[in-house]
Amino acid sequence: MKKSILLINGPNLNLLGTREPETYGNQTLEDVEQLCVDHAAGMGISLATFQSNHEGAIVDAIQQSRDVYSHIVINPGAYTHTSIAIRDAILGIDARVYEVHISNVHEREPFRHHSYISDIAKGVFIGMGIPGYLAAIDAIGAE
Ligand code: DQA
Repeated sequence: MKKSILLINGPNLNLLGTREPETYGNQTLEDVEQLCVDHAAGMGISLATFQSNHEGAIVDAIQQSRDVYSHIVINPGAYTHTSIAIRDAILGIDARVYEVHISNVHEREPFRHHSYISDIAKGVFIGMGIPGYLAAIDAIGAE
């Protein structure tokens, strides 16, 4: 399959730019999505975006990505630390998945140290800020 990416952002990431800017920066989700679309396009890869605050909607998006996208870049937000359902959805598809966290979750509260996704992800980008999304796209380009 030709490379194509679905970028998924989970709960509260729709508030980027206004939410805890000292942790997550000043760029809005729209800014971030456009950066990712442009970055991927520069590498000849199409990238679609999806954001939801709802666990089941994210599960649906992952299921529906089957046979459509070769790769997923996902920042599952707080569901990273709780969602077996998102883990199982990822296990149920063939797409290669890269996990991104804007902040360094390991220097934050202990409940953010465990991810249900990291051990089944192809790669994990943590604490790089917004450039972490672009690094994940670069990794897909380099595969
Ligand atoms: C986050 C880290 C999560 O712990 C948190 O719940 C988020 C954002 C990040 O990008 O740093 O919503 O995934």
